[in-house]
This record gives sequence, C-alpha cells and structure tokens, in this order.
Amino acid sequence: CPVVRVTTPIIFALGADSGCGKTTFMRRLSAIVSGCAPKLLPGGHPNTNTLVAGPMTVICLDDYHKYDRKGRALHNVTALASECQDFDLMYQQVKDLKEGRAVHKPVYDHATGTLDPPERVEPPEVLGLEGLHPLVDPRVRDLVDLAVYVDVATEIKVAWKIGRDVAERGHSVAEVVSSITKRLLDFRKAVEPQRELADLVIQILPSELAKEQAAAREAALRDAAAHGAAAAAQAAGESAEAVAAVAAAAAAAVPAVPVTPPGCPPRLRVRLIQVLREKPGGARVWKPVHVLEESSEVQWKPYNGIRIRYGSEDWYGNPARVLEVDGQLGQLSDLLPIERHLRATGCCYEGEVARTLLDTGALPGSDDGSGLVAALVALKVRQIHEQRRLKLAREEREVAARKAAEE
Ligand code: ADP
Ligand code: G6P
Repeated sequence: CPVVRVTTPIIFALGADSGCGKTTFMRRLSAIVSGCAPKLLPGGHPNTNTLVAGPMTVICLDDYHKYDRKGRALHNVTALASECQDFDLMYQQVKDLKEGRAVHKPVYDHATGTLDPPERVEPPEVLGLEGLHPLVDPRVRDLVDLAVYVDVATEIKVAWKIGRDVAERGHSVAEVVSSITKRLLDFRKAVEPQRELADLVIQILPSELAKEQAAAREAALRDAAAHGAAAAAQAAGESAEAVAAVAAAAAAAVPAVPVTPPGCPPRLRVRLIQVLREKPGGARVWKPVHVLEESSEVQWKPYNGIRIRYGSEDWYGNPARVLEVDGQLGQLSDLLPIERHLRATGCCYEGEVARTLLDTGALPGSDDGSGLVAALVALKVRQIHEQRRLKLAREEREVAARKAAEE
C-alpha cells in the first residue's frame, strides 16, 4: 500500500455494558488492523485505558464520566446513567480528532475512581471509541462510520464479570452480582437501547448446540441403562411389566448430563447481525460477510461441535444479514473449511481469518464464535481503512499529474 496518511480518521465505535468484552474486542481489533500488538498510550496517564496500535488509537469513553466515584455517590447516580456523562466534551473531542486536531482528553482512573488531569491524544488514522454510550448522543453518533453493539446474555455477562472483577479488581462474587443488579435499570435505560442504532450487533448467547449435544448424550445413556436393566430382568425371567418398570427406573437413575462440564466456561452461540440500514448521504461502509451468496439461507455443521447458520432477518424494522456460529472451534486448521465458504471477509489471502485468530490466540474467545466474529469485523475495518488510503493515494497522484501537465 502506498505511504499516505489518512487525515480524516475512520471512526469505529463499540458499545456494550460493563464486562461484555469491549476491551478484549478492541485489543483484538487494533492488533488486526495494525498488524502489531497494541500498547497503552506512551506518555499517557499511568492508569490510562487509551490503546495505540500503528495507525489506530482506541479511547475509552469512561474518561467522559461527569462525576468521579465520590461524586456519583453524592449525586446518587451510577456510571451507566446518561446524566453521568459529559457528552458535550465527548462530542467536541471526537470531532476534533476526526478533523485532525490533537485533544487533551480527561482520564477516569478505574483504580482510584478519580477524574485525573488530561492526557494528549494525537489524531489517528483509525479511531476506536469503546464504552457504555458511544451512540447515545446523536452528535457523536453522526461522527461514527461503523457502530457495533455487543449484546451479551445475562448469564454469560455475569460469568465474565465475576471472572474479571474477582480475579483482577478484588471484588467478591456477591459484590459483582449486587453491582450488576444495582445498575440494571440504568443499563436498560441508557445502554441497551443502542442496539437499535448500531450497524452491527454481536449477540453472545448460550450455545444451543451444546444443549442439544448434552441432551443427546443423556438420551443415549438413559437408553443404554434401560436396555441393560431390561436385558438383566428378562434373563431373570421377570414379567413384561416388571421388565418395563426396571428399565424405566434404570433410565431415570441416570444423572443429568451438564451442558457445560463443571469448571468450564459456558459455550457460546454468537450471532453477527449486519443491519442494512441506509446511512445519511448513502455512505454505508459495510458489505455483509456472508456464506456463499448474500441472499443464501444456510445451516451447516462443518464438523462435530460447531454449527454455522446464515440468513436474512428483520432487525427493528430493518433488513439484516445474520451469521451465526454456535459451538467450539477445534483446531484452528478446522477453520479453513469454514473460511472457504465465507465471502466479503476483507481478507487478503485464504486462511487469513485463521491466521489472525492464531496471532491473537492469547485473547479469550479465540476458540469460538466470539473471537471469530471479532476477527471478521477487524479484517473489514482494516479493509475499509486500506481502501481509504488507496483512494487518497489515487487522488494525490491525480493532483500531481494535473500539476505536472499544467507546468
Ligand atoms: P469490558 O471492557 O466490556 O468491561 P472486558 O474486555 O474487560 O470487558 O472483559 C470482561 C471479562 O470477560 C474479562 O475477564 C475477559 O477475559 C472476559 N471475556 C471478554 N471477552 C471474552 C470472550 N470472547 N470469551 C470469553 N471471555 C471473555
Ligand atoms: C464499570 C464500568 C465502567 C465504569 C465503572 C465505574 O467498571 O465498566 O464503565 O467506569 O464501572 O465504576 P467504579 O467501580 O469505577 O466506581
């Protein structure tokens, strides 16, 4: 790609509740877009959340909280409430960055709960906004080129948040559950409605396939137990009634097969809902990732333990193309047959989706649909950015050629 600097950054926004994997997603996305490992802003606040990776910078919208932890207690508001965000400053600074000006962004320190002196952020070529409310203020929303909302089922959200807050933030399980409950109303009021506004919605749900597989295993075990008991009762010369009763009792005695083995994380069904909404000015940057044809309806089990579905649906009155991945990816090489059937992925070569998952394999979700879908989104963002650079390079060449002709 020619060396041109894009001066009007493409803005990618990611909204979701706390503990829904925003940071994890952005780490994967910025690594894939830039081809290098993201770092915390060099020279930034010691507890900054701002990530820099090559042409991409990700800012965390928690930095625009209006009140610090003490202030929230004083005003009796949660960090999720709209009235706890400084949307005017958020808008002004996102606009400045989009127009190529550096900003002095405030910092919310999650460790101390204080709003600290600002850090300087230079305008990047790709700007990521991650937070609770990227789409709530219409002025900010209008600056965003591609908006994603991650919608995580409560039971999975609770499991993820407990995993993080207990291990990394020193909270007890009861504290985490109580914090989720306390904020639920604000989540419903201020955060969740953004799923109607996003261009892409990623739903993270409990696996249906795992449930079906557990039910099938349980049925097979019950069958075998009933069979064995019936055969023994028959051999002992029991009456037909007694044989049936023994078989039924043996089947009932088989313990339920758990959907997720104890101690294992819940298996996921991940849906990438790609909304075909017209953007003002007709500038929709996303062409849906699809299986075979954009209009296909597909249900496919490429191998045991994974099911792919693709088709069209309605999403709040708009048409949408939905790609669903249910189950666990085995070896990453198992991804190749799946990848071969995906179209409009933004890849430069066959096998690149598997390659990017391997490269970002240390991040959670690399072996299921959550990582796969994040990688697909990242590859497309990278492609959109590359296309902008190429367009700019072409325009610069044309201007130079015109100038040369005039001279
Ligand atoms: P957020 O930034 O939205 O608060 P994080 O990215 O910090 O969320 O993730 C919260 C917790 O969930 C972390 O412990 C993380 O490891 C876990 N997590 C995030 N994404 C996934 C995923 N795709 N699969 C499994 N666990 C995940
Ligand atoms: C969660 C949210 C953050 C918010 C924080 C505030 O962690 O994800 O967006 O900034 O809560 O709560 P705190 O625990 O820092 O008072």
